[in-house]
Amino acid sequence: LPVLSVASEAVPLVKTGGLADVVGALPAALIPEDVGMQIILPAYPGLLPRLTSPKVVWDDPDLFGGPARVLRGVVEGTTFLLLDAPHLYDRQGGIYAGANGDYPDNPERFAALSWAAAQIAMRGTSDGWRPRILHAHDWQGGLAPAYLRYAGSDVKSVLTIHNIAFQGNAPADRLAALRLPASEFHREGLEYWGGISTLKAGLVTADALTTVSPTYAEELMRPQFGMGLEGVVASRADVLHGILNGVDEAVWSPGADPAILRDYGPASLARKAQNRAALLAEFGLSELPGPLAIVVSRLTHQKGIDLLAETMPAFIAAGGGLVLLGSGEPALEAGMRDLAARHPDRVGVRIGYDEALSHRMFAGGDAILVPSRFEPCGLTQMYGLRYGAVPVVAATGGLNDTVIGLTPAAEAVATGISFHPVDATAFAAALRRLSALYADRAGWTALVRRAMKAQVGWQEPAGQYAALYRNLLT
Ligand code: ADP
Ligand code: GLC
Repeated sequence: LPVLSVASEAVPLVKTGGLADVVGALPAALIPEDVGMQIILPAYPGLLPRLTSPKVVWDDPDLFGGPARVLRGVVEGTTFLLLDAPHLYDRQGGIYAGANGDYPDNPERFAALSWAAAQIAMRGTSDGWRPRILHAHDWQGGLAPAYLRYAGSDVKSVLTIHNIAFQGNAPADRLAALRLPASEFHREGLEYWGGISTLKAGLVTADALTTVSPTYAEELMRPQFGMGLEGVVASRADVLHGILNGVDEAVWSPGADPAILRDYGPASLARKAQNRAALLAEFGLSELPGPLAIVVSRLTHQKGIDLLAETMPAFIAAGGGLVLLGSGEPALEAGMRDLAARHPDRVGVRIGYDEALSHRMFAGGDAILVPSRFEPCGLTQMYGLRYGAVPVVAATGGLNDTVIGLTPAAEAVATGISFHPVDATAFAAALRRLSALYADRAGWTALVRRAMKAQVGWQEPAGQYAALYRNLLT
């Protein structure tokens, strides 16, 4: 079953967050389901040379203001269609923003991606590949189902919401520039607070909607989490599915990870202790009596990073330590640097993005902290499970669906600690719990082993996506 995946990022080519992990992992996960997925992605600077035997399979002399072509090639086993349109994607800086903030033509940049995807879905590539399903991700792909619908196409479409906080808004006067029909500019269409929302356009036109956990699927329909789109999502509840993300077990395996000092498994935790010692040494921290906590995260309000500043002093006083890797809001970065400066032997902070370091942290950490205010799925708590870094999570979204929090009733099956509500008081209580558990060596070892055995692979979710695609075709 040929499927075209439309997204703004995918590993191994380009990543700013979990979206890239998920989009990049799906094609391999779907092979056993007999789904042949190809990913269309903008050809950001440096990507084209990474394709093996690239071939031009589509072109357009005027794609939103300049010539464009699509080259197909393979990268590490995954087939990519790279949309080469230098007037849109050949930029200094990041994939969404440059030195002066978000690129002002972002709506056009990702409308062009969605347009090319819709054209390929309708007419196929020049060598005859034609998908039966178009699967778009987030606001960047939101217009692809819309273009299909407005053209009266019978190609089926799926839109996955990875984070409804990002809605792809543009002023109403860009309607024609974005090749959108004026007749669709109304409340039941793509109009949103007087402007255009590319995410809403997809939400109202896709044949099926999915989001990345069952709990977030419920939350999305409530004002607290829907970010203004709760009514739109609720109006499509009959076609909305919560499908949990998986972990790419080829990349995240403590038993075979080239990025870590010592490979280990549930039966060889002494080797994990060597990774812990190495991590402490790397950050110049002293040996700790309590647990070594880690955080790998965008530093934003969503992720509850501000709660760390409030709760860490007591956690440290009780014997704990922290290693944090992340970047984001300047005030939060400063706050974390400040925390490290005040506790130089207990807190290590690295501001930046470093994939290999993140692996060393999961291998060395005793616990991963994820105090998110909302979390559609979250991946780092699952990496924590795999590596025996016990997750301490807010009970929201996918965190709620992937971690079995310790309660008296769930003692024998718990894989982590979860807390609610998401505030400093509840988080501090969870951290006290963590320190107490860590002190009970036998109980702690049992908890770590259970965490490492939790099923977080792609097998089950891939089966659910494949079933959804096939249902749309019957
Ligand atoms: P989100 O997509 O909302 O940022 P996820 O938990 O779904 O959250 O995914 C985040 C991904 O980005 C994970 O793979 C995580 O390991 C990675 N990541 C986040 N920040 C960093 C960083 N500073 N360095 C390396 N990897 C990071
Ligand atoms: C978004 C969400 C995150 C999710 C990721 C992949 O970035 O914030 O929770 O894990 O998408 O679906």
